[in-house]
Amino acid sequence: MVKSVTVPNISATEPDWSREQLRRWWDPSRQLLKSIRAYQKWHAKGGIIAGLLRRINVLQHRFWSVVTAADIPIDCQLGGGLLLTHPTGVVIHPKASIGPNCLILQQVTVVSGVKIGGHVDIGAGAKILRQVTIGDHAKIGANAVVLCDVPAGATAVGVPAKIITHL
Ligand SMILES: CC(C)(COP(=O)(O)OP(=O)(O)OC[C@H]1O[C@@H](n2cnc3c(N)ncnc32)[C@H](O)[C@@H]1OP(=O)(O)O)[C@@H](O)C(=O)NCCC(=O)NCCS
Repeated sequence: MVKSVTVPNISATEPDWSREQLRRWWDPSRQLLKSIRAYQKWHAKGGIIAGLLRRINVLQHRFWSVVTAADIPIDCQLGGGLLLTHPTGVVIHPKASIGPNCLILQQVTVVSGVKIGGHVDIGAGAKILRQVTIGDHAKIGANAVVLCDVPAGATAVGVPAKIITHL
């Protein structure tokens, strides 16, 4: 079925960091991302103080990983503005890359080598199991098993996933 595509108003290139700002202290998914962001910032700087701060970030990351039950390594390649509304069971390989302003729901798996563009929404339980590319503004349906590239603006659903819309 081919559907009309609405013009997205969330950027696929400019991270909206407000999406990651803590709403309160007990905000596990944003705390998890905060520990990853801080670790990567200090890792880029180097030096003794940065090394100490990185160790604190590693402890924070371990704590929030246990709380969220997510497996998102501290060296993951995550674009800014990532939303993990329900982070439970999210697994992302460190050699996958995620563009800015994506939304990843619970129980999503992303394997090594996957390239996800900007403003991609990935529904609950979706699995991206091959080294595919997901274009900007694409949507992946709940429980989809993605084995092929998904063009920009397209929606992929089902097992194996099929494209139902694209620009
Ligand atoms: C994929 C998705 C974004 C499509 O939304 P949409 O553009 O509004 O599409 P529609 O609901 O009109 O569905 C279009 C077609 O795809 C099918 N479809 C939609 N979602 C599907 C899914 N996850 N798996 C299989 N088929 C799906 C519909 O049955 C419909 O098929 P038809 O045209 O033969 O009747 C949405 O259905 C989805 O899965 N979102 C994820 C939401 C989620 O994970 N929520 C958890 C909140 S905690």
